[in-house]
Amino acid sequence: MMVGLPEPAEVYIRNAGRGDLAVLIALRQSVGWSSGGIEGSFALVDAGRQAILLAEINGRVVGSVAMSFQVPASGGFRSGHISDLLVAPLWRRRGVGTALLQSAERAASDRGLTQVTLDVDASNRAALALYFGTGYTHYRPAQFPWGPGYTLRKVLVPRHQSGSGRLLLRWWRRWSQGPWSDRARL
Ligand SMILES: CC(C)(COP(=O)(O)OP(=O)(O)OC[C@H]1O[C@@H](n2cnc3c(N)ncnc32)[C@H](O)[C@@H]1OP(=O)(O)O)[C@@H](O)C(=O)NCCC(=O)NCCS
Repeated sequence: MMVGLPEPAEVYIRNAGRGDLAVLIALRQSVGWSSGGIEGSFALVDAGRQAILLAEINGRVVGSVAMSFQVPASGGFRSGHISDLLVAPLWRRRGVGTALLQSAERAASDRGLTQVTLDVDASNRAALALYFGTGYTHYRPAQFPWGPGYTLRKVLVPRHQSGSGRLLLRWWRRWSQGPWSDRARL
């Protein structure tokens, strides 16, 4: 095992509540992300239009992701939009981002949504590798105020077709095998 790395541990994915506001802000600020609007996003959570998921290791929040649920009145795809996927630097490359993504997809699937989309900067090689490696494909190019990017999408497999429906996580795969689980019902 490499010196200085955190010890192997279980990863739990759970829904965030308003009591997590401070820790969510601290997590975002630790990587220089703005926390403006975060408080307001809990209003969407309360209205059932968004879920904010947290990844916890040994009781410490190490990552988060948001999932907005969109059901167009006009019909068509019942779609979810994933945003703000973030893993604390010390805990990257251990499957936490993948776990958060899969839990967000499952939350969408459980609500009957048939696809998820997300936006990513063209220069974000880590995120692109993660998304393409987990089944996302190009949907359309995007132009953000700060530069070019892409909207990616993934068509969701209904849970009754996805075998056990359990999430598999390659956790601590370089050093040891370790379990992880959803703590909350998503
Ligand atoms: C992108 C991010 C969420 C990935 O989280 P993570 O926990 O490190 O991701 P995982 O461990 O699940 O990685 C799964 C796979 O994605 C790819 N990947 C992840 N980080 C990578 C990197 N820095 N370089 C290349 N590939 C990478 C790899 O294929 C990896 O599998 P491997 O470790 O077996 O090679 C994390 O780097 C992060 O928080 N970045 C800053 C915020 C951000 O850019 N968010 C995305 C906004 S669109």
